Amino acid sequence: MPVRALARVNLAAIERNCARLRSALTPGSPDGPVPALCAVVKADGYGHGAAASARAALAGGASWLAVATAQEASELRSAGIGARLLVMGALTAEELGLTLHCDADVVAWREGFVDHLRRRAPHEVRVHVKLDSGMGRLGTRDLDEALRVADAVAAAPRLELSGLMTHFATADERNDTFFGEQLERFAAWVAEVRGRHPALVVHAANSAATLRDPASHFDMVRCGVGIYGLDPFGEDAPLRGLEPALELSSWVADVKRCARGESAGYGRRFIAERDTHLALLPVGYGDGWRRALTNNADILIRGRRHPLVGTVSMDNITVDVGSPSGAHSGDDAILIGADGVDRITAEEIARRLNTINYEVTCGLLPRVPRAFHRDGRPVSAAELAETQP
Ligand SMILES: Cc1ncc(COP(=O)(O)O)c(C=O)c1O
Repeated sequence: MPVRALARVNLAAIERNCARLRSALTPGSPDGPVPALCAVVKADGYGHGAAASARAALAGGASWLAVATAQEASELRSAGIGARLLVMGALTAEELGLTLHCDADVVAWREGFVDHLRRRAPHEVRVHVKLDSGMGRLGTRDLDEALRVADAVAAAPRLELSGLMTHFATADERNDTFFGEQLERFAAWVAEVRGRHPALVVHAANSAATLRDPASHFDMVRCGVGIYGLDPFGEDAPLRGLEPALELSSWVADVKRCARGESAGYGRRFIAERDTHLALLPVGYGDGWRRALTNNADILIRGRRHPLVGTVSMDNITVDVGSPSGAHSGDDAILIGADGVDRITAEEIARRLNTINYEVTCGLLPRVPRAFHRDGRPVSAAELAETQP
């Protein structure tokens, strides 16, 4: 049965990607424990479905989850996921209330926030102190302030100093020295805090750092993009042993003749230079298939690449399939994914859009239903809910 637009997510691939990332983790000392894997499932699991991705990641060996917002934490808890959960973002007073209600860990870097937290904490709250070692976003750059915040958390009743963290700005960039500088700054601060508070979970690495440098692994890594089988370096996921988990498909709703000189779509941005045939796919920027892909993408139909021609509209695109046998009404059309020997990757779409693979999958809108499977075997909603986190 053809489907208008569908994102099929292979949960088995997410499991294997987690196992692959875990296999890269290196203990800080020869007899030390293997660092933990925290699966980052914010932004609806980078567009893959947060709860289903979280469950797959936990099955694949992740032991923590991380999200950006209180609402995302609440959605995971509502789905019955009880795993250790870190909310990494800045929180309004209202969001803090929801985060605490979800029994999620929070991040602090100002004494004022710790004071607020101390007064609001209805129960033991686990806190991670964030050093801004160079990202220039969340966290304090001031090493003394970071130390004072850690001391204040440790001294407060009902607050537990659980972790120390930072985030890298350039882990995915080649020929860069800033990553090493950040790592050094963070490691020196960690050594100082650990002298006073030894039992802490120290974490810094995203997917790129995890694959790039074992020295960044500390006690835990926070991997997002890699668990979905997207290449953190924007190149080629299989090269790094990662398997893309998401496929985006549509169907050929119609095939029509387009004579030389005739056009397709708004603004007549495609005018046929020869007699040809156009396949109509009922998918568009209302699904997150961006308008900037106008005359700027390929689609796989019957195992062959064909150019998207004309303007991407909200609900439709047209594909130049050449001869009438290039596509038949009812055919599947692959926008992201493999068909035969060829594959269109999120990285390819990202390059065309001058963006990163993260934005391609995060940008798929809720109008596109997500269907979950394990290596082709459909996974029902009931089965999903039953999978124990
Ligand atoms: C603080 C933090 N840690 C970890 C991650 C995961 O990064 P990645 O998806 O590159 O693995 C993110 C994602 O942006 C993040 O904001």
